[in-house]
Amino acid sequence: MEVLTRGGRALDSVVEAIVVLEDDPRLNAGTGSRMRIDGRIQMDAALMNWDREAGSVAAIEEVKNPIRVAYDVLKTPHILLVGPDAIAFARSKGHARYDPSTPDSRRHLEESLEKIRNGRLPRYARKWKGVALHDTVGAVARDRRGHFATGSSTGGLAFMLPGRVGDSPIVGAGLYAGPRGAVSVTGIGEEIIKQVLSKFVYDRIADGLSPQAAADRGLALFPQDVPIGILALTSRGWGESCNRDMAFFASSARRTF
Ligand code: GLY
Repeated sequence: MEVLTRGGRALDSVVEAIVVLEDDPRLNAGTGSRMRIDGRIQMDAALMNWDREAGSVAAIEEVKNPIRVAYDVLKTPHILLVGPDAIAFARSKGHARYDPSTPDSRRHLEESLEKIRNGRLPRYARKWKGVALHDTVGAVARDRRGHFATGSSTGGLAFMLPGRVGDSPIVGAGLYAGPRGAVSVTGIGEEIIKQVLSKFVYDRIADGLSPQAAADRGLALFPQDVPIGILALTSRGWGESCNRDMAFFASSARRTF
């Protein structure tokens, strides 16, 4: 809000909003991210601007703010950098080595491993589709010039193989922005990618639907047992639609607008 109030760009406000959320250890992005089953933390983050410039990183490790690395990628000719090369890129841009683990992230890993050892997994988890989302973060913004931007950042799901990448860094899946609005979503990444959910919602906005109606249409693509949260912003206002208690998602939407 500070960035927008002083006339800054929507893109910069999205970066700064997500940095705040990444630095909050209660959320599953940046500091406090979920661990993979081998105990490593691999994070995904992405940004997209109204002019469709985009930057993202996937499976990046040992950086404090993946969203700032995504912003550095946006300034290159590329859109998505992954794994060790994304880390090397981050170092070349001055992102220092940082351990995003917390006592809670270690405890969550122990709990997941215990469930795996005991075989007490529900069917979705045996298929590596944990419903425990643990607060992926996203932000959408519109600035004084009427330009939109969107971003997302996550440590992923519970029960993840190393190397797994979800929807959050995938343009069209976890986020989409254009001249008509901005969309950020979260939920089970694999399901979101299959529906190209953010682009679906954006296209409904471009068709003339209100942001709320567009978000509701997106949510309706999924059965109730697939957790999904959608945030949509247009010049007509904002809409959010979710089938779980995604309180952080909703409250950040209100603050953003
Ligand atoms: N929506 C977060 C993820 O699936 O990684």
